[in-house]
Amino acid sequence: MASPFEILGIDADADDDEIVRAYRERVKAVHPDQGGSTREFLAVQRAYELLQNGNGDASLDVGDDAERATETGDEEPASSSEATNGAGQDPEPEDVAEGYRVEYLNYETLSDHGWDLGDDDLFEKAADADLSPEDYGVLSFTDDRNLLAAAEKSGYAWPFACRGGACANCAIAVVEGEVEMPSNHILSQEMVDRGLRLSCISVPKTEELKILYNVKSLPGLDELRLPAQQFDKARSND
Ligand code: FES
Repeated sequence: MASPFEILGIDADADDDEIVRAYRERVKAVHPDQGGSTREFLAVQRAYELLQNGNGDASLDVGDDAERATETGDEEPASSSEATNGAGQDPEPEDVAEGYRVEYLNYETLSDHGWDLGDDDLFEKAADADLSPEDYGVLSFTDDRNLLAAAEKSGYAWPFACRGGACANCAIAVVEGEVEMPSNHILSQEMVDRGLRLSCISVPKTEELKILYNVKSLPGLDELRLPAQQFDKARSND
């Protein structure tokens, strides 16, 4: 058993900034893509959630035989959507029988064409611009995968770093429709109000979506980014 502070490798009197810094470092270090285990990754996520909720006295079981991190203390165990948010395990929205249709556009194409994020006809112009499938197209899927995973399943390399909601490398702007992002520890409320979301932990809530991906250079997101090259030099275009 270990305290949330021990799991994040910080003192019990760490302040909020130290907790956030430690979380971002730990979630990178234990990510399954980097040789960590799903158990460790979930434990780090859960430890951070506990500290964010003022439950620093809780204990987490991170023993080798644990299927996933479990805890003792006053707080209820995490819901399935919270506990599986990351490491390729997606949150669980309601099923949509007809599937999801996600129209996507690469934000970096806007400046090439003199377009603006606020253009009402942005996606109509994109549809007529003969863009490559990497830059503009439609993702169709019926399961509850997150948007980053949906893009990858279709063969596209959208930017990412931690895959755990701890950076802004995978940020997207939702132009139409809604997504569900169960645990956001990084984006400010003002960013969320602007429609920004993290593709690695966001799943569609509406059957139709229009999103801009690769928006990590938008104001305010730069300082929230992590170096991507250590995670996936070949695939990320960060
Ligand atoms: S890749 Fe870091 S939050 Fe999505």
